[in-house]
Amino acid sequence: MQDKRQELLDLRAKSKEGGGIKRIEAQHAKGKLTARERIFFLLDEGSFQEMGALVQHRSNLFGLDQQKILGDGVITGYGTVNGRLIYVFAQDFTVLGGSLAEAHAEKIVKLMDLAMKNGAPLIGLNDSGGARIQEGVVSLGGYSDIFYRNVQASGVIPQLSAMMGPCAGGAVYSPALTDFIMMVEDTSYMFVTGPNVVKTVTHEEVTAEELGGANTHATKSGVTHLTYPNEIALIEGLKKLLSYVPQNCDEDAPSLPYSGGDETRMVLKDIVPDNANQPYDMKEVIEGTIDDNSFFEVHKDFAENMIVGFARLAGKSIGIVANQPAYLAGVLDIQASQKGARFVRFCDAFNIPLLVFEDVPGFLPGTDQEWNGIITNGAKLLYAFSEATVPRITVITRKAYGGAYCVMNSKQIGADMNFAWPSAEIAVMGAKGAAEIIFKRDIQGAKDPAVELAEKEAEYAEEFANPYKAASRGYIDEVILPEETRSLLIRAFKMLENKAQQLPKKKHGNMPL
Ligand code: HXC
Repeated sequence: MQDKRQELLDLRAKSKEGGGIKRIEAQHAKGKLTARERIFFLLDEGSFQEMGALVQHRSNLFGLDQQKILGDGVITGYGTVNGRLIYVFAQDFTVLGGSLAEAHAEKIVKLMDLAMKNGAPLIGLNDSGGARIQEGVVSLGGYSDIFYRNVQASGVIPQLSAMMGPCAGGAVYSPALTDFIMMVEDTSYMFVTGPNVVKTVTHEEVTAEELGGANTHATKSGVTHLTYPNEIALIEGLKKLLSYVPQNCDEDAPSLPYSGGDETRMVLKDIVPDNANQPYDMKEVIEGTIDDNSFFEVHKDFAENMIVGFARLAGKSIGIVANQPAYLAGVLDIQASQKGARFVRFCDAFNIPLLVFEDVPGFLPGTDQEWNGIITNGAKLLYAFSEATVPRITVITRKAYGGAYCVMNSKQIGADMNFAWPSAEIAVMGAKGAAEIIFKRDIQGAKDPAVELAEKEAEYAEEFANPYKAASRGYIDEVILPEETRSLLIRAFKMLENKAQQLPKKKHGNMPL
């Protein structure tokens, strides 16, 4: 990192000897790198081949004839990250606010077509005020060309969007069509329309940070999947993310060398508390199971009752979807379902096997959830798992209640291996709630209703608050000791390595959007 910083300082010194100093200094004064510096940090040294550096816009309207800048506000080209080919564009906010019009769009379109034909990830380093207002309708046409290609490329090559400055209009809609969005705290913003337009139309006074800052999109809207304190950290994160994903949908993600050893993990033994209502941190289960320090969590601050992220198991890239009992008891709600569904679909599109850790008391009840569509949104997760054809394994650590049992990668919706720890409870609902409903009359008519309820609760728990009933039906393939989890997962994923499953022939399904 120190070397890189020195290289950056040298680069800056050199650029100050040349032209365009004011523009570069303006960018630096805002705490931002220039577009060229961002590419420099992202790619392997000397690997960048620029394309279209001499392209200019062709408009003379509204003073644009005085502002013809080589490259038209975007640097495009290809290079390698850790030896693997990627295509990259970096918008230059110092040129007409990084705005996009005909020529700028043509450069990105050319790059997208190459990325598709050659099967390598497309990285967008976005820093743009959206459609270039002076060029009018050709700006909109340019964005439509890009949107169309974003959609054609979806599921074919990974598309990653890094937001490096204030982005509006088309500059946020194109990223929204890509797989992952990353933002820099304090210097990047995303909105369809900025604070000034908001004030004019709705009379709301809101800062850019409140409206579309990194924190807003990480916690409230869920638009961004990852946030970083500065641009260098974001670029390092981008490289790390790339290491978990394949080049395209026909390839597997790269593996790291791995030599097996004693895979027993005693740390997993005591994580789940004896009291079924006591929370625990599912991240300890994840960390205890996977290769050391390999968890790359995404969407961390959004819908924290659901955990999603990439990890490595015996060197291989996997996607993890897990309930988080430490947050809202791990309940499934609208946002958690959306978060999980989107991640499952990414992994499935790019051949990344899925591992599910389940401890879920059910769907969240209430008017807020019902009126905002928990039915449709919960169905998204069900749909996403049901159509996923990658190897899929579930480990039930504690509760698997009600519809949430079905949704969280149950055997019946296509999971390949389903394990349960002895602490698992697989039932329609918790024992107390169940007893209150089915033994209502007995309880009401009893001499001591409280004692009767406790007895009936114990009766129900005896029957269902364990994994054995489900195992006797084959819903669970094996009840395993927590400490054996890692070794059994390694073995099971190895067994599933050549899984090949086709969905029924169709144009496309109709996911409940
Ligand atoms: C032309 C633009 C521009 C644009 C910014 N600039 N956006 N020029 N077209 N869309 C220019 C400014 O005029 C200014 O030029 C320079 O870029 C820097 O902009 P500032 O406003 O000074 O920067 P800042 O205060 O940081 O604000 C950034 C911003 C704001 C929030 C992005 O510029 C903004 O709101 N821009 C307009 C956003 C917008 O409405 N875009 C069109 C969206 S429609 P000078 O010469 O003064 O330095 C769209 C259609 C797509 O994109 C379809 C979607 C489905």
